[in-house]
Amino acid sequence: MSPRPKRITAPEFTALKAAGQKITVLTAYDYPMARLVDEAGVEGILVGDSLAMVVQGRENTLPVTLDQMIYHAEIVGRAVQHALVIVDMPFPSYHLGVHKAIESAGRILKESRCHAVKLEGGADQEEVIAALVTAGIPVMAHCGLRPQSVHQLGGYKVQRDQERLLADAKAAEAAGAFAVVLECISSTAAAAISKELRIPTIGIGAGAGCDGQVLVTYDLLGFTSGYVPKFVKGYTDLKSSIASALKAFRDDVRSGKFPGAENTFQ
Ligand code: KIV
Repeated sequence: MSPRPKRITAPEFTALKAAGQKITVLTAYDYPMARLVDEAGVEGILVGDSLAMVVQGRENTLPVTLDQMIYHAEIVGRAVQHALVIVDMPFPSYHLGVHKAIESAGRILKESRCHAVKLEGGADQEEVIAALVTAGIPVMAHCGLRPQSVHQLGGYKVQRDQERLLADAKAAEAAGAFAVVLECISSTAAAAISKELRIPTIGIGAGAGCDGQVLVTYDLLGFTSGYVPKFVKGYTDLKSSIASALKAFRDDVRSGKFPGAENTFQ
Protein backbone atom coordinates (compact mmCIF):
# COMPACT_ATOMS: atom_id res chain seq x y z
CA MET A 1 0.00 0.00 0.00
CA SER A 2 1.39 3.42 -0.92
CA PRO A 3 1.80 5.78 2.07
CA ARG A 4 -0.89 8.44 2.55
CA PRO A 5 0.35 11.78 1.21
CA LYS A 6 1.32 14.14 4.02
CA ARG A 7 -1.08 17.04 4.58
CA ILE A 8 0.43 20.56 4.39
CA THR A 9 -0.31 22.59 7.51
CA ALA A 10 -0.65 26.33 8.08
CA PRO A 11 2.62 26.57 10.07
CA GLU A 12 4.39 24.85 7.17
CA PHE A 13 3.60 27.86 4.98
CA THR A 14 5.95 29.91 7.18
CA ALA A 15 8.53 27.12 7.14
CA LEU A 16 8.41 27.07 3.32
CA LYS A 17 9.16 30.79 3.23
CA ALA A 18 12.04 30.34 5.67
CA ALA A 19 13.39 27.57 3.42
CA GLY A 20 13.16 29.86 0.38
CA GLN A 21 10.59 27.64 -1.37
CA LYS A 22 7.91 29.39 -3.43
CA ILE A 23 4.34 28.55 -2.40
CA THR A 24 1.59 27.75 -4.91
CA VAL A 25 -2.13 28.23 -4.26
CA LEU A 26 -5.03 27.70 -6.68
CA THR A 27 -8.79 27.94 -6.33
CA ALA A 28 -11.28 25.07 -6.49
CA TYR A 29 -15.01 24.97 -5.95
CA ASP A 30 -15.97 21.39 -6.89
CA TYR A 31 -14.81 17.78 -6.43
CA PRO A 32 -13.19 16.89 -9.79
CA MET A 33 -11.27 20.16 -10.07
CA ALA A 34 -10.17 20.00 -6.42
CA ARG A 35 -8.76 16.51 -7.03
CA LEU A 36 -6.85 17.65 -10.12
CA VAL A 37 -5.47 20.73 -8.39
CA ASP A 38 -4.42 18.65 -5.38
CA GLU A 39 -2.78 16.01 -7.59
CA ALA A 40 -0.79 18.80 -9.29
CA GLY A 41 1.00 19.22 -5.95
CA VAL A 42 0.15 22.78 -4.97
CA GLU A 43 0.53 23.65 -1.29
CA GLY A 44 -2.80 25.46 -0.87
CA ILE A 45 -6.29 25.19 -2.34
CA LEU A 46 -8.53 28.19 -1.86
CA VAL A 47 -12.29 27.90 -1.92
CA GLY A 48 -12.49 31.54 -2.95
CA ASP A 49 -15.53 33.74 -2.78
CA SER A 50 -14.60 34.31 -6.45
CA LEU A 51 -17.01 31.41 -6.88
CA ALA A 52 -19.73 34.08 -6.87
CA MET A 53 -18.36 35.38 -10.20
CA VAL A 54 -16.76 32.23 -11.64
CA VAL A 55 -19.42 29.64 -10.80
CA GLN A 56 -22.56 31.63 -10.01
CA GLY A 57 -22.11 34.24 -12.77
CA ARG A 58 -22.52 37.17 -10.35
CA GLU A 59 -21.21 40.67 -11.02
CA ASN A 60 -18.92 40.67 -7.96
CA THR A 61 -18.13 38.55 -4.89
CA LEU A 62 -20.60 40.23 -2.55
CA PRO A 63 -23.70 38.03 -3.05
CA VAL A 64 -22.20 34.64 -2.08
CA THR A 65 -23.49 33.47 1.31
CA LEU A 66 -21.81 31.66 4.20
CA ASP A 67 -24.02 28.60 3.56
CA GLN A 68 -22.97 28.52 -0.10
CA MET A 69 -19.27 28.83 0.83
CA ILE A 70 -19.64 25.95 3.29
CA TYR A 71 -21.47 23.85 0.68
CA HIS A 72 -18.57 24.20 -1.81
CA ALA A 73 -15.87 23.96 0.87
CA GLU A 74 -17.24 20.63 2.14
CA ILE A 75 -17.07 19.21 -1.41
CA VAL A 76 -13.52 20.49 -1.97
CA GLY A 77 -12.41 19.35 1.50
CA ARG A 78 -13.50 15.78 0.72
CA ALA A 79 -11.54 15.76 -2.55
CA VAL A 80 -8.23 17.08 -1.22
CA GLN A 81 -5.67 14.82 0.48
CA HIS A 82 -2.48 16.84 0.38
CA ALA A 83 -2.97 20.62 0.19
CA LEU A 84 -4.06 22.98 2.95
CA VAL A 85 -7.66 23.96 2.16
CA ILE A 86 -8.41 27.61 2.89
CA VAL A 87 -11.97 28.93 2.73
CA ASP A 88 -12.91 32.55 2.07
CA MET A 89 -15.10 34.19 4.69
CA PRO A 90 -17.80 35.88 2.61
CA PHE A 91 -19.03 39.42 3.05
CA PRO A 92 -20.20 40.30 5.75
CA SER A 93 -19.61 37.16 7.82
CA TYR A 94 -16.75 38.77 9.79
CA HIS A 95 -17.87 42.41 9.81
CA LEU A 96 -20.44 42.13 12.59
CA GLY A 97 -18.06 41.85 15.52
CA VAL A 98 -15.60 39.33 16.86
CA HIS A 99 -18.26 37.00 18.28
CA LYS A 100 -20.02 36.71 14.92
CA ALA A 101 -16.68 36.25 13.09
CA ILE A 102 -15.73 33.32 15.35
CA GLU A 103 -19.19 31.84 14.83
CA SER A 104 -18.85 32.11 11.02
CA ALA A 105 -15.29 30.75 10.87
CA GLY A 106 -16.23 28.04 13.39
CA ARG A 107 -19.10 26.94 11.14
CA ILE A 108 -16.72 26.83 8.15
CA LEU A 109 -14.22 24.58 9.95
CA LYS A 110 -16.84 22.36 11.64
CA GLU A 111 -19.18 21.89 8.69
CA SER A 112 -16.69 21.78 5.80
CA ARG A 113 -13.86 20.12 7.73
CA CYS A 114 -11.41 22.42 5.88
CA HIS A 115 -8.34 23.82 7.58
CA ALA A 116 -8.13 27.61 7.46
CA VAL A 117 -10.06 30.75 6.56
CA LYS A 118 -9.17 33.84 4.54
CA LEU A 119 -10.57 37.29 5.16
CA GLU A 120 -10.06 40.64 3.49
CA GLY A 121 -8.34 43.17 5.69
CA GLY A 122 -5.21 44.11 7.57
CA ALA A 123 -5.03 46.75 10.30
CA ASP A 124 -8.83 47.19 10.19
CA GLN A 125 -9.36 43.47 10.91
CA GLU A 126 -6.54 43.02 13.45
CA GLU A 127 -8.94 42.32 16.31
CA VAL A 128 -10.92 39.76 14.31
CA ILE A 129 -7.77 37.98 13.06
CA ALA A 130 -6.38 37.82 16.62
CA ALA A 131 -9.68 36.45 17.98
CA LEU A 132 -9.89 33.74 15.32
CA VAL A 133 -6.26 32.75 15.91
CA THR A 134 -6.92 32.61 19.66
CA ALA A 135 -9.82 30.28 18.88
CA GLY A 136 -7.36 28.01 17.05
CA ILE A 137 -8.43 28.95 13.54
CA PRO A 138 -5.60 29.58 11.05
CA VAL A 139 -6.17 32.86 9.19
CA MET A 140 -4.86 34.02 5.83
CA ALA A 141 -5.25 37.79 5.45
CA HIS A 142 -5.93 39.51 2.10
CA CYS A 143 -4.54 43.02 1.56
CA GLY A 144 -4.23 45.38 -1.40
CA LEU A 145 -7.21 45.15 -3.71
CA ARG A 146 -10.07 43.76 -1.65
CA PRO A 147 -12.80 42.63 -4.01
CA GLN A 148 -15.44 42.73 -1.22
CA SER A 149 -14.82 46.50 -1.01
CA VAL A 150 -15.15 47.05 -4.77
CA HIS A 151 -17.83 49.73 -4.35
CA GLN A 152 -15.74 51.67 -1.85
CA LEU A 153 -12.55 51.34 -3.94
CA GLY A 154 -14.36 52.49 -7.08
CA GLY A 155 -13.50 49.39 -9.12
CA TYR A 156 -10.84 46.72 -9.45
CA LYS A 157 -7.80 49.03 -9.43
CA VAL A 158 -4.13 48.65 -8.56
CA GLN A 159 -3.73 49.78 -4.93
CA ARG A 160 -0.88 52.28 -4.53
CA ASP A 161 -0.91 53.51 -0.93
CA GLN A 162 2.39 51.85 0.02
CA GLU A 163 2.33 52.99 3.64
CA ARG A 164 -1.12 51.53 4.17
CA LEU A 165 -0.23 48.30 2.34
CA LEU A 166 2.79 47.71 4.56
CA ALA A 167 0.87 48.67 7.72
CA ASP A 168 -1.95 46.26 6.78
CA ALA A 169 0.38 43.34 6.08
CA LYS A 170 2.34 43.96 9.29
CA ALA A 171 -0.85 44.22 11.33
CA ALA A 172 -2.08 40.92 9.89
CA GLU A 173 1.20 39.26 10.83
CA ALA A 174 1.17 40.77 14.32
CA ALA A 175 -2.40 39.52 14.83
CA GLY A 176 -1.28 35.96 14.05
CA ALA A 177 -2.16 35.43 10.37
CA PHE A 178 -0.12 32.58 8.85
CA ALA A 179 0.05 34.19 5.38
CA VAL A 180 -1.17 37.25 3.55
CA VAL A 181 -2.53 37.53 0.03
CA LEU A 182 -1.37 40.70 -1.76
CA GLU A 183 -3.71 41.51 -4.63
CA CYS A 184 -3.08 44.05 -7.40
CA ILE A 185 -0.24 46.10 -5.98
CA SER A 186 3.03 47.16 -7.60
CA SER A 187 5.77 44.55 -7.73
CA THR A 188 8.09 46.96 -5.86
CA ALA A 189 5.66 47.36 -2.97
CA ALA A 190 4.99 43.60 -2.86
CA ALA A 191 8.71 42.76 -2.82
CA ALA A 192 9.34 45.27 -0.02
CA ILE A 193 6.45 43.91 2.07
CA SER A 194 7.62 40.32 1.49
CA LYS A 195 11.07 41.25 2.83
CA GLU A 196 9.57 42.86 5.96
CA LEU A 197 7.36 39.90 6.91
CA ARG A 198 8.20 36.56 8.51
CA ILE A 199 4.98 35.03 7.19
CA PRO A 200 4.67 34.38 3.44
CA THR A 201 3.06 36.79 1.01
CA ILE A 202 0.95 35.11 -1.66
CA GLY A 203 0.66 37.41 -4.66
CA ILE A 204 -2.03 37.83 -7.28
CA GLY A 205 -1.16 40.67 -9.63
CA ALA A 206 1.68 41.59 -7.27
CA GLY A 207 4.78 40.47 -9.17
CA ALA A 208 7.51 37.90 -8.72
CA GLY A 209 8.86 39.25 -5.41
CA CYS A 210 6.10 37.56 -3.39
CA ASP A 211 6.77 34.33 -1.50
CA GLY A 212 4.08 32.52 -3.46
CA GLN A 213 1.43 32.98 -6.11
CA VAL A 214 -2.31 32.35 -6.26
CA LEU A 215 -4.59 32.36 -9.31
CA VAL A 216 -8.19 31.52 -10.03
CA THR A 217 -7.82 28.08 -11.64
CA TYR A 218 -10.50 28.70 -14.29
CA ASP A 219 -8.57 31.82 -15.40
CA LEU A 220 -5.32 29.96 -16.05
CA LEU A 221 -7.21 27.16 -17.80
CA GLY A 222 -8.98 29.57 -20.16
CA PHE A 223 -12.38 28.50 -18.79
CA THR A 224 -13.57 31.84 -17.38
CA SER A 225 -16.55 33.27 -19.23
CA GLY A 226 -16.07 36.95 -18.33
CA TYR A 227 -13.17 39.41 -18.10
CA VAL A 228 -9.72 37.96 -17.38
CA PRO A 229 -7.25 40.35 -15.70
CA LYS A 230 -3.79 41.21 -17.11
CA PHE A 231 -2.00 39.42 -14.27
CA VAL A 232 -3.34 36.02 -15.40
CA LYS A 233 -1.21 33.75 -17.57
CA GLY A 234 -3.35 31.43 -19.69
CA TYR A 235 -1.83 27.94 -19.73
CA THR A 236 -4.47 26.38 -21.95
CA ASP A 237 -7.72 27.27 -23.71
CA LEU A 238 -10.34 24.98 -22.19
CA LYS A 239 -13.24 27.12 -23.34
CA SER A 240 -12.38 26.49 -27.02
CA SER A 241 -11.75 22.76 -26.47
CA ILE A 242 -15.05 22.38 -24.63
CA ALA A 243 -16.95 24.39 -27.24
CA SER A 244 -15.62 22.20 -30.10
CA ALA A 245 -16.37 18.99 -28.18
CA LEU A 246 -19.94 20.11 -27.50
CA LYS A 247 -20.49 21.10 -31.15
CA ALA A 248 -19.03 17.76 -32.29
CA PHE A 249 -21.58 15.95 -30.07
CA ARG A 250 -24.41 18.01 -31.49
CA ASP A 251 -23.27 17.32 -35.07
CA ASP A 252 -22.75 13.57 -34.42
CA VAL A 253 -26.29 13.21 -33.02
CA ARG A 254 -27.76 15.13 -35.93
CA SER A 255 -25.81 13.07 -38.51
CA GLY A 256 -26.50 9.71 -36.78
CA LYS A 257 -22.79 9.11 -35.91
CA PHE A 258 -23.57 9.00 -32.19
CA PRO A 259 -24.38 6.69 -30.51
CA GLY A 260 -22.29 4.16 -32.44
CA ALA A 261 -22.28 0.40 -31.96
CA GLU A 262 -19.56 0.78 -29.28
CA ASN A 263 -21.90 2.99 -27.21
CA THR A 264 -24.92 0.69 -27.56
CA PHE A 265 -26.21 -2.32 -25.55
CA GLN A 266 -27.48 -5.40 -27.47
O1 KIV B 1 -11.74 34.62 -4.07
C1 KIV B 1 -10.65 34.33 -4.57
O2 KIV B 1 -10.54 33.45 -5.44
C2 KIV B 1 -9.47 35.05 -4.08
C3 KIV B 1 -8.19 34.86 -4.79
C4 KIV B 1 -8.26 35.36 -6.16
C5 KIV B 1 -7.03 35.39 -4.03
O3 KIV B 1 -9.57 35.76 -3.13
